[in-house]
Amino acid sequence: MWKWLGILCIASAIQINAETNVLAFAGSTREDSLNKKLIKEAGNIARELGANVTVIDLRDFPMPFYDGDLEAAEGMPENAKKLRQLMIQSQVILIATPVYNHSIPAVLKNALDWVSRSEQAGRSREAFQGKKIAIMSASPGKTGGANALIHLRDILADQRAIIITQQVSVPDANNAFDEEGRLKNPQIKADLQQLIQEVLK
Ligand SMILES: Cc1cc2nc3c(=O)[nH]c(=O)nc-3n(C[C@H](O)[C@H](O)[C@H](O)COP(=O)(O)O)c2cc1C
Repeated sequence: MWKWLGILCIASAIQINAETNVLAFAGSTREDSLNKKLIKEAGNIARELGANVTVIDLRDFPMPFYDGDLEAAEGMPENAKKLRQLMIQSQVILIATPVYNHSIPAVLKNALDWVSRSEQAGRSREAFQGKKIAIMSASPGKTGGANALIHLRDILADQRAIIITQQVSVPDANNAFDEEGRLKNPQIKADLQQLIQEVLK
């Protein structure tokens, strides 16, 4: 009961309502992805705080590599359109990214590139501009993928998104989640809770 009372107090203090649409996704398509676990945790926290949360899997949105000729000939791929519309309809976006060679994976960059276009094949910031975005990462390494967040923050800032200064990186992530996929470390959990509260403010 105390937990729910606490959540209720926090939710009313930061004025969240069920009309706050939150879109959450990881930059990994892997079945057992550590970042999918992390984004689920983040989504659950946002839901507990009263937001209307949609967690999607980029595996369900396969799209070709961005190619200007393909765009000119066939327009934006259907899955890019769907992802872009989900982003446009959301006030808040949560992204958990793996680190690949000190940066973000191609699957995430490609999705961001497509949604940075308009359906008329021009540049468009509609999917990002004014959106509040919280970023996080998980990796088996010591820094938890923090290097990828530098690049992700930069990309999103160029799109005029409002990126929360705080961020969460989960190091040693192969051992960071229990069998139900919940974060084991109370400090990381608290940091994630704080990040989500901040982005929902
Ligand atoms: C191509 C590639 C590059 C990687 N580069 C790094 C790296 O630079 N630093 C690091 O700590 N881990 C690196 N990793 C390990 C990933 O962070 C790790 O596989 C992680 O679990 C992937 O995220 P996921 O579990 O959400 O799929 C790399 C993995 C791959 C496949």
